[in-house]
Amino acid sequence: MPGRMNGKVALITGGGNGLGRATALRFAEEGAAGIVIADLLPDPGQESVALVQALGVPAVYCPLDAARRQDNEAMVATALDHFGQIDVLLTAAGVSHGGYRSGDLDASRKRLAERIDHVASPWVPFLDLSVDEFQAVLDVNLTGTLLAVQAVAAHLVLVERPGSIITVASIMARSDTGPVPYNVSKAGVWMLTKIAARVLAPRRIRVNAIGPGYVSTNMTAALTEMPPDLLGPFMAAIPMGRLGEPREIANTALFLASDESSYFTGELLHPDGGFFTG
Ligand SMILES: NC(=O)c1ccc[n+]([C@@H]2O[C@H](COP(=O)([O-])OP(=O)(O)OC[C@H]3O[C@@H](n4cnc5c(N)ncnc54)[C@H](O)[C@@H]3O)[C@@H](O)[C@H]2O)c1
Repeated sequence: MPGRMNGKVALITGGGNGLGRATALRFAEEGAAGIVIADLLPDPGQESVALVQALGVPAVYCPLDAARRQDNEAMVATALDHFGQIDVLLTAAGVSHGGYRSGDLDASRKRLAERIDHVASPWVPFLDLSVDEFQAVLDVNLTGTLLAVQAVAAHLVLVERPGSIITVASIMARSDTGPVPYNVSKAGVWMLTKIAARVLAPRRIRVNAIGPGYVSTNMTAALTEMPPDLLGPFMAAIPMGRLGEPREIANTALFLASDESSYFTGELLHPDGGFFTG
């Protein structure tokens, strides 16, 4: 049966966990020709590769520190070595705070507890915010997105091939509550996406962003354990009353990757359970 990713090779940063892994699997179900899983963490990265291969789709792991230009260039070279072409990029590598390590739930709980301590005095973490913390989040979320987009687009321009680039912003890109470095990084991803879409459109390269609401992944695992007095108002901000599932975001990525979205570029789509209806 023809799939919506037939003949397409996809490169997924942050493909070892969460939204990146779910998208890799969804692309594989739709008959992708090959998938590169690029991630900082080799074990979950290799696990994603095995899961994709189990669906009958060739996949390869590529070590990546998203913030390093040479790693992003090596990721493109890996895709070309193994599959000879690139059609789709999803930039799902991301951190919620400096030192974030996907799957380290204890560290995430500790971080969240610090935020909760300051709910009534939000100016304290703002005034205490260190440059190191700010920079660490921007390095991965924003600079990392720029470097991946540059590396893939440079190749596509060179070989005169069309492509679809999908970045991952967040509802936080348009919200003024939340951790400053994260929200600012995601607002930056949104603007970067719009500019890249404009300059790359004449080369038939589409660039769109996904701005998910809260989704059940390692990044939000600690949030869902919050005490009822905090969890209640948090959930009340989501009209659908639940977190999203990674597959629901993967379906958005699939739409943007496939030819069904052929007239979309520079768009920010929000799979968010209605967060922005207010
Ligand atoms: N989960 C949510 O609610 C949510 C909502 C909106 C946006 N997002 C964004 O979606 C993206 C994916 O997040 P997730 O929820 O799947 O989290 P996750 O922790 O499950 O996955 C993130 C992946 O990125 C990888 N990564 C982190 N730093 C990296 C680096 N420097 N280089 C390469 N890989 C790196 C991690 O190893 C991990 O595999 C992030 O950009 C996040 O900000 C998540």
